[in-house]
Amino acid sequence: MVYYTLLSMDKKIVLANWKSHKTVQETIAFLKALHDNLSTIDLSNKFILICPTYISLASAAAYIQQNNLPLSLCAQDISAFGEGAYTGEVAGRFIKEFATHVLIGHSERLKYNHETVDDIQGKIVQAKEANLTPILCIQNENSFIGDVPIIAYEPPTAISTFGVGKAETSSDVESVFTTLKQKTQASLLYGGSVDADNVSSYMSSPVINGLLVGGASLDPQTFIALLSKW
Ligand code: PGA
Repeated sequence: MVYYTLLSMDKKIVLANWKSHKTVQETIAFLKALHDNLSTIDLSNKFILICPTYISLASAAAYIQQNNLPLSLCAQDISAFGEGAYTGEVAGRFIKEFATHVLIGHSERLKYNHETVDDIQGKIVQAKEANLTPILCIQNENSFIGDVPIIAYEPPTAISTFGVGKAETSSDVESVFTTLKQKTQASLLYGGSVDADNVSSYMSSPVINGLLVGGASLDPQTFIALLSKW
């Protein structure tokens, strides 16, 4: 069974991870600004995923559909359980109504929600059952990698909101990816302090299949500037 959307080989993923930012209204305002500037962006080489809070997914999906925008949606998390008596959880079937992808195991969830490898494994199973593409975040080359089609390597020291936030160079990332490629056939993304100034150094690398962008994806003009760089 094909349980996830396959990535076209000639496109690189750009995932805007908004974390706990933006109301529904702010989400739509961002999408409108992006829509107004789409002609300035080369879309032939990009697969753009927007990753808002759960609360904004439905409105974002409606706006994208009504305006026929070349954007897909990703959830920031998924329940490790199925549908049922799990207060506060959001099961894969509900996410699937609006999104195609889901982030699993982001280091902020490990840090603040104490997620374990068992939790992560449960979430991967649930994503696959719901026909969502899991994007598994890992912190280093020894992290659990599971059986997923997309892995996002995000060393915590590189994430802008974790203090120092020092981006890894594309050659550092390439050397980690060389090791990872011996263990997995997943598409490999990098995340950590990516911005308009450094984005092209990653995108010119043949082994980097895409990027997770946090801070630099929040302001539409900053994000558009980043998307216009390659
Ligand atoms: P950053 O966040 O781009 O702000 O470093 C990336 C992420 O945590 O996904």
